[in-house]
Amino acid sequence: MKTIFSICLGLLCFYTDAQTLLQVPDTLIGPNISLTMHKDSVQFFPTGSKTYTYAYNQYAYLGPTLIFEQGQNMNITVTNDINDTTTVHWHGIHLPSKWDGGPHTEIMAGETWNPQFTVMDKAATYWYHPHLHMKTALQAIKGAAGFIIVRDPNEAALSLPRKYGVDDYPLVIQCQQYDANNQAMPLGMQDSTIMVNGARANNGYSVYGNFPAQMVRMRILNASGERAFNFGFTGNFPFKQIASDGGLLNQPFDTTRVRLAPGERAEIVVNLTGMQGQTIHLMSYASELPMGVQGGPTMPMPPGSPPMDSPLNGIDYNIMQINVVAPTIDAVTSIPNVLENNVQFDPSTADVTRTIRFTADSIMVMDGPFYFNDSSFNMERIDLVIPINHTEVWKLVNETMVGHPFHIHDVQFYLFDRNGSLPHEGERGRKDVVFVPTGDSVLFITKFEDFADSIIPYMYHCHILMHEDDGMMGQFIVVPPEYVGLNTNMVLASSIKVFPNPTSDFLTFTLNENLNLLDIRIIDNNGQVVFKKDDCTLNKIDISFLENGNYHLLIRSNEKYFNANFIKK
Ligand code: C2O
Ligand code: CU
Ligand code: CU
Repeated sequence: MKTIFSICLGLLCFYTDAQTLLQVPDTLIGPNISLTMHKDSVQFFPTGSKTYTYAYNQYAYLGPTLIFEQGQNMNITVTNDINDTTTVHWHGIHLPSKWDGGPHTEIMAGETWNPQFTVMDKAATYWYHPHLHMKTALQAIKGAAGFIIVRDPNEAALSLPRKYGVDDYPLVIQCQQYDANNQAMPLGMQDSTIMVNGARANNGYSVYGNFPAQMVRMRILNASGERAFNFGFTGNFPFKQIASDGGLLNQPFDTTRVRLAPGERAEIVVNLTGMQGQTIHLMSYASELPMGVQGGPTMPMPPGSPPMDSPLNGIDYNIMQINVVAPTIDAVTSIPNVLENNVQFDPSTADVTRTIRFTADSIMVMDGPFYFNDSSFNMERIDLVIPINHTEVWKLVNETMVGHPFHIHDVQFYLFDRNGSLPHEGERGRKDVVFVPTGDSVLFITKFEDFADSIIPYMYHCHILMHEDDGMMGQFIVVPPEYVGLNTNMVLASSIKVFPNPTSDFLTFTLNENLNLLDIRIIDNNGQVVFKKDDCTLNKIDISFLENGNYHLLIRSNEKYFNANFIKK
């Protein structure tokens, strides 16, 4: 009944909505890119206060699209003008942890951060957003997010639509919850305001795009705090999915739906050839989502639970209208049957299988906090120590009542098992987020090939931003092989000081605990031990013999180990 009523309401609005033309963010093309995050405000609502926002560069909400070329040496400056601490994380991009923009690399108010890295990723759609400890949700839903499009020679050689804003559209879909004063709330249970590329798209508003009558590519990002979308077009208009989070699929495949949980991306191609003058709608067919998936039908709640009854739950609703207009002159008329040659790692070669259970204090918990393996995130605790070049299988088991999109930094992974079966075709390519509905168990395989850093960890977390901020996050370091065999009961950089750093002759270290030391190692960035000492009476090491570069100092005692990075110059 509710569904029918809402659909009627939707049709009614179709004639009365304030329509906005789809806004396509401007691009910034590498290698030198400057971002400034600032405060702004937008009159999103017809009455009452403006909505206070965060945004990058010239925008009042969201930010420009960054274009990276594979192999390019990026030099990015990020200036923080929001009068609060932030970070910027390059979601899906493979880069050293110190440039990953996680919660350990804060950019203080007024400061500029200067990450420099080489683009190693495959052509795909990535994104950037803040990642400040316990404030990711608030900063991201206030508007701090933008696209990253990576281009590479393989993709460039294929006959695919790639004229940005002409036959290739980035679409960031968000569902937001605003309070009575029109301010974004870092909550998701009653999210009811849909935004398409930063413009309101429901409740009296709609967004339309004028797309040419030819093959058109859409790069869809779900940047919502909580809601999953089940995208499709009116009339079950068919399309091809060509890419998952981190790259092209081996083959495009025909479908009528693509489900995206927060953090996930998909690239699709719709064939609008010959349809000039017609209109179709991009929809979310949320009535098809099972209970327990955020955005699916609302679950009956135990008494005393917070309300979680967004009017969008479990109904089908419009996201965007597409008006088909005249084709362009050099339209892409067909796309190849083979796109990529992704080769999955063989699970039988994995060095280890790790199990990560999604848990909560009780099975009745619907709104969090949620945990990994029963423990809440702790900035001072390293959860996993991963030897460089390890091939690993991670098994994710959801023991809670709601679905969670699991995301890992540093790597792309390949899903090879969902509840004992081969995953859906759209999930068989490179991914960095996998949605794990209640009761599901999924297995992925990945390899940690680069960027040993014993100090700055990478994150893995639920991409429901409120769950992440509430502690559904863990962290891992990728370490040189020398560290293998040590347990994770380690101490972080705060317990050891090395100086001077950089240094050219002597390196001195002090520990803030008096322990019997067993040995000292210096390890280079390739994992080679370049210095060993088993008598530990000195705290000063002559390192003048080392070549210039980055090194790890590893000191072991009986029960702990200490590590620091230093630079020889
Ligand atoms: Cu998109 Cu760790 O995040
Ligand atoms: Cu990420
Ligand atoms: Cu979650």
